[in-house]
Parts: sequence; structure tokens; C-alpha cells
Amino acid sequence: MSGKKWPTWLPLRQDLQPLSPYGAPQVPAEATLNTNENPYAPSPALAQAIADRAHQVALNLNRYPDRDAVVLRKALANFINNLSGTSINFDQVWAANGSNEIIQSLFMAFGDRPALGFTPSYSMHPLIAKVTGVNWRDGGRRADFSLDTEKALQEIADVKPSLTFITTPNNPTGTTVTLDEISKLADAAAKINGLLIVDEAYAEFSDLPSAITLIAKYPNLIVIRTMSKAFAFAGARLGYLVADPEIVSAMFLVRLPYHLSALTQAAAEVALDFQEELLGTVSSLIASRKIVVKQLEEMGLQVIPSQANFILFSGFSQEPAELWRKLLDRGVLIRDVGLLAHLRMTIGNEAENKKFIAALQEILNGESQ
Ligand SMILES: Cc1ncc(COP(=O)(O)O)c(C=O)c1O
Repeated sequence: MSGKKWPTWLPLRQDLQPLSPYGAPQVPAEATLNTNENPYAPSPALAQAIADRAHQVALNLNRYPDRDAVVLRKALANFINNLSGTSINFDQVWAANGSNEIIQSLFMAFGDRPALGFTPSYSMHPLIAKVTGVNWRDGGRRADFSLDTEKALQEIADVKPSLTFITTPNNPTGTTVTLDEISKLADAAAKINGLLIVDEAYAEFSDLPSAITLIAKYPNLIVIRTMSKAFAFAGARLGYLVADPEIVSAMFLVRLPYHLSALTQAAAEVALDFQEELLGTVSSLIASRKIVVKQLEEMGLQVIPSQANFILFSGFSQEPAELWRKLLDRGVLIRDVGLLAHLRMTIGNEAENKKFIAALQEILNGESQ
């Protein structure tokens, strides 16, 4: 509930009135570890290459962009095929302004039956469902946040959702779902004419193979990816899905004309040319994650095993909101995801991680005195 009182003259939809806008606090901090971004900025060479392309594109900004973004979708298909050893064609790829827009388009195209998800998971799945008028059902998870696949299969059979959402690695827990489990879920969804959406926003940080490798076998499987996380390109806003060409055809019905600006398309194309640089930080972020996990455990805290670039931890005695505030007072911004007794921190650069650990140590030591 937002608690906001809307004026009576404003004909805002009744179902939207109790909602709050999405809002990870955007406050200045010395260590910004709250939205699962990659902490490493583009190199000057990449920034220059984007500026050069933007200049070329600017000379033609009186014209609408390619509304089908064919050059970009071909580049994305190539990128995926190199990464996952698949033979995806560009007509199986759809790109949008961040994977959030992809998720919205899926609800708009396929949302006339309920959508099913398993929380805690990415909070925007149910929120975008609500905003697009789609009935959201929550299947829940086990107490340790793992997915109970048998229960999930039963939920799919009972609820008969047109869209079932799986996030792997899951946000905010970092836990994963295997390809074997995904296959079973896709089979169950197919039996009720439903689609299985696998949100792989953090896939590059995981050592499990991508569900993109299953698409040839399961036409009802949709994999969502983003350039915002491992790819270190959150500010450009570029997300995409990979699926059967019929699913991509359905996206053409719900997309706004020219939704992806010429500047966004050009910047993303240049970034894909620099993919080695942009993905080059993934292994060091994974190494840092292992170090931070060890340090938290040495402090007596519990950490959910994570295959992403963030960690969900518990074992502190104060309220999450209180610890969150004390960390912010020390220049460290992490995320209170609204889960009882847990907080989530994104792996930052070495200095940021050190600052986080030092601040946390100081707070917890103060507590035990
Ligand atoms: C699981 C998941 N999916 C999708 C997104 C949205 O990413 P973007 O819209 O930047 O591509 C996020 C962002 O935090 C996420 O955690």
C-alpha cells in the first residue's frame, strides 16, 4: 500500500490506487550495492566508439528508427550462439527497453489467463502483471528459498496459467533451477497450452547452462536476458527474449511503433562489438562474491548459496530496515528487499566490498558490546 491519497477528480484505475511506484532508493552513497549493476564502467575506448556512432545516428534523427531492429537482433542472435553453442536465428530474438519492457509485452500479449510465479522472486513480475491487468498467482517457495518443483508442476496443472515465471539465478535469493527441472516445467506448461518464462537476467554469473539451449525442443519456452547486469550496460536500457519465431511474431502486435530508439539500437550494437571487454569482469565479480560470502560467514552470518552477482544474508539481530539505515549512514547502500530478517547486497568493486564489510563489522561489533 502506498498510503497516497489520490484526488477524487483523478479517474485513476481503482486497481492502481493502492500501488506504490517501483522504487529502489536512488540516493548518493560511496558504495552503491543495491540494484545488481556491474560496478565497472565502460572503458574510454568503448565510450568513444558509442559517441562516434551516436554522432552518425544523430545526423539522421529526423527519421524514425528501424522499428524491427533487425541489425541489433542479428547481432544479439550471434552473441547468444557464440555463448551457448546454439543456432538461434534473429527471428527468434526480440529486443526492448530493458527486460522490464519485455516482461510487460509478454503480459500484454498473453495475459488473458492468470500468470504464475514463485516468490520471493523478482518483484516486478507481479507488479507489471498488476499494471497490465493480469491476475497474478503466487506458488511460493520452500523455507530455504529453493523451488519445490513437484509442487510447482501441480500448481501449473491446477492454475492453468498462460504464463509461468521462473527466475534463475533467482533475484533476490541467488538460487538456481536446473535444465532438467525447467524441462519438466515446460512440459507441464505445454499440457495446459501455457508458456514458461525463464528470466535469466543473471545467467552469465552462473555455471549452469542457459535454458536457451532448450528452445529448439520447447516452442513454449521463452528466455529473457538483459544487458543491464553482467554486460555492464544498465544505463542504455536493453533487454531481449529468445523464443520460437511465433512468440516473436506476437510481440509485433503489442510493441509500440518505434519503441527502441535509433540511439539505443546503435549503442547496443557497439556494445556487442565490445562484448569481451564488457563481460570481462564477470569472473572477477564471481571471485569477489566468494570472498564476501566467506567474510560474512566468518562474522557468523548466514548466506544463501548464490550464483548471481548479489548475496542474500541473514543472522543479524536487528530489523533489516535498521541495519540498512546504519549501513547507509556509513556510506554503503544495499537493499532491503522486504524479506523478514534478510538483506541483499550486490557485489561491487574491491573498494566497495571492503567498505561494506568494514561498515557491517563496525555495526555488529557495536551491537555485541
Ligand atoms: C530477475 C530480473 N529480471 C529483469 C530485471 C530488469 O532488468 P532490465 O529491465 O534492466 O533489463 C531485473 C533487474 O533487476 C531482474 O533482477
